[in-house]
Amino acid sequence: MKFFIDTANLAQIKEANELGILDGVTTNPSLMAKEGIKGEKAIMDHYRTICEMVDGDISAEVISTDFAGMVEEGKKLAAIHPNIVVKVPMIKDGIKAIKWFTDNGIRTNCTLVFSAGQAILAAKAGATYLSPFLGRLDDSSWDGVELIAQIAQIYGVQGFKTQILAASIRTPLHIVKCAEAGADVCTCPLDSILGLLKHPLTDIGLAKFLEDAKKTMG
Ligand code: E4P
Repeated sequence: MKFFIDTANLAQIKEANELGILDGVTTNPSLMAKEGIKGEKAIMDHYRTICEMVDGDISAEVISTDFAGMVEEGKKLAAIHPNIVVKVPMIKDGIKAIKWFTDNGIRTNCTLVFSAGQAILAAKAGATYLSPFLGRLDDSSWDGVELIAQIAQIYGVQGFKTQILAASIRTPLHIVKCAEAGADVCTCPLDSILGLLKHPLTDIGLAKFLEDAKKTMG
């Protein structure tokens, strides 16, 4: 399973990248707004900076909701860097745009996915990645991990090549469950990635080893 970080914060991207396990970055308009990035040039520059920091796929989201607008925006985003993946919402024109991008050699990430039916449509259109939002499903008492497993089963049986990019991750346990359910990628906040490190027995064990090591130092 690939690890992406789900943020537009450069310090967090740097910290995750320095772990050496980062395969890419996902952003969305809310994450860009959170960093105070305003205006087309600033947005484009920010994506370019992220591409220069991380050697992996970087999702950049369109904000148009009509086919022509999405295609125009997506072409501009894809021209920033070869690692850019154009993120397109799961709406009717979005599916048309994904098919257009597929036919024109531009990679896509279909976002705001909440059902297996939507996952089938995106795969038919040739999406490179599919982003089911499991945390938001959990927030409304649906089982997000179950959706990941269902899509993995369908894609496996049907031989779809679209990669399942589990999104809207809230906890380290989500990451573990997504790995178990067959996600190809997990895009996570930094805290959830770092949460995977934690176990009290590791800390207790290390403290004891260090204490005993002092005895061996003469
Ligand atoms: C990922 O691509 C999504 O933009 C993101 O994971 C959404 O997460 P949220 O539900 O925490 O906003």
